[in-house]
Amino acid sequence: MDCVEGGASVSFMAPLTHERADTFWRAVADGVASGERLLLVAEDRAKRGIVGTVQVVFAGPENQPHRGDVAKMLVHRSARRQGLGALLMRAAEEAALAAGRTLLVLDTVTGSEAERLYTRLGWTRVGVVPDYALWPDGRLCDSTFFYKRLSRS
Ligand SMILES: CC(C)(COP(=O)(O)OP(=O)(O)OC[C@H]1O[C@@H](n2cnc3c(N)ncnc32)[C@H](O)[C@@H]1OP(=O)(O)O)[C@@H](O)C(=O)NCCC(=O)NCCS
Repeated sequence: MDCVEGGASVSFMAPLTHERADTFWRAVADGVASGERLLLVAEDRAKRGIVGTVQVVFAGPENQPHRGDVAKMLVHRSARRQGLGALLMRAAEEAALAAGRTLLVLDTVTGSEAERLYTRLGWTRVGVVPDYALWPDGRLCDSTFFYKRLSRS
């Protein structure tokens, strides 16, 4: 809810109500329980709360057992620019590899902080799809697609 309020284009239109967010996260929890996805969270011990999260969604088709999608990389505005996004992504990559995935893909708003993050972490930029999604306020935005091969180094 904080990220959407801050203007991030992460599937939801503004305003994101508590009820809609709750429905979304319960579906995510079901997906984790069924083994369809991995969910990682970063907790702030001092405040005793979750300040960041990311997911790896395992690809559905039976001919892509090695692939996953990185989704919902979210860091609370109060916890940004401290390296949490990078830590979460590295942890997600390690968890995906441990789960047998060797290829990850993702898309993000072109020109965003997230795009810089993925580039910095060695993701390969595939290209831009214009007008791929909406900002929370309804304007169209371009998306940049990335992939990363995972291997034990
Ligand atoms: C994208 C996002 C997850 C990044 O999270 P973050 O925790 O701020 O990421 P990091 O701290 O690792 O890196 C962000 C910046 O802080 C800088 N930084 C990292 N540690 C730092 C530190 N200790 N001191 C100062 N700066 C630091 C990084 O170099 C980076 O700089 P840059 O943006 O100028 O390249 C966050 O901005 C976010 O949640 N955005 C909204 C949701 C969203 O768009 N998600 C992406 C969906 S695909």
